[in-house]
Amino acid sequence: MKLQHVVESQQFTVPLLMELFGRTRQMEKIAARGGTNDYHNRIMATLFYQPSTRTRFSFEAAMYRLGGRVLSTEQAGFFSSEVEGEQLEDTIRILGGYSDVIVIRHTQAGGAKRAAQVSKVPVINAGDGNGGQHPTQALLDLYTISRERPIEGLSIAFIGELDRGRTVRSLAYLLSKFERVKIYFVSPPEMQMKADILEHLEEHDVWFALEQDTAKVLREVDVVYQTRIRPERLTDRGSHGRYTINASVLQTMKRDALILHPLPRTVEIDKSVDEDPRALYFRQATNGLYVRMALLTMLWDEQ
Ligand code: CP
Repeated sequence: MKLQHVVESQQFTVPLLMELFGRTRQMEKIAARGGTNDYHNRIMATLFYQPSTRTRFSFEAAMYRLGGRVLSTEQAGFFSSEVEGEQLEDTIRILGGYSDVIVIRHTQAGGAKRAAQVSKVPVINAGDGNGGQHPTQALLDLYTISRERPIEGLSIAFIGELDRGRTVRSLAYLLSKFERVKIYFVSPPEMQMKADILEHLEEHDVWFALEQDTAKVLREVDVVYQTRIRPERLTDRGSHGRYTINASVLQTMKRDALILHPLPRTVEIDKSVDEDPRALYFRQATNGLYVRMALLTMLWDEQ
């Protein structure tokens, strides 16, 4: 079995990614014709301890497009027996008796791994903690980029609160599997990428640089991966504009650059950017549906 659970990006090899992306293209076609009933006997449980719009709805939509059914709680901390003190491990054992896959978003880094360790059905990490991982977001990010250009030789700037950026962490792990990738981490010093990711990149001979100057980097890169900036976390509160993409910043970027954002956004991408053909973040979110359909079928077909 190639995949039993999906808890972190490091699990994916390049051949496995290519298999997933091939399936994802098929899922785009299946979704366009309304879906399939091939997985009508499958049930997915979504167990979210933190808010979500894209991840939960796209997983649930994926399940419906595959013909299956969904058990869901979006505020698991309040609407599950954890209110009564039940431990995560027991909740997972119980849900494994009712469903064929558990999709979990947990408050703590490592929460999904804890769940996987006791689960008899596949567990998918839908984001865990600050500074944990969000592997399925990274898969859809990489898929979105791969639809536009080769990953090998790619230059990418990650911008924002990188210390807490689980999507960036997961995507950095995936990118480290490809040749000649260049990564710029652009962030206020107090929010820079953590040492464990930088050490991983060094070990895998991936070129990277830590930057504070967005203007210097944006004119160089193929992909701008913007993430959240909360002004209240900045030492210099007024400096968030340095990390914002707006109409004037667009003019400094490559004409064929791609702008991604895992969303939700606040101040860091101005709405005037949305109509620019380089802005891919809404298509990126839609791709999440197809990637998650493909991932679910891979988990089940290879059991
Ligand atoms: N990108 C992402 O994880 O969005 P949600 O928090 O809305 O799921």
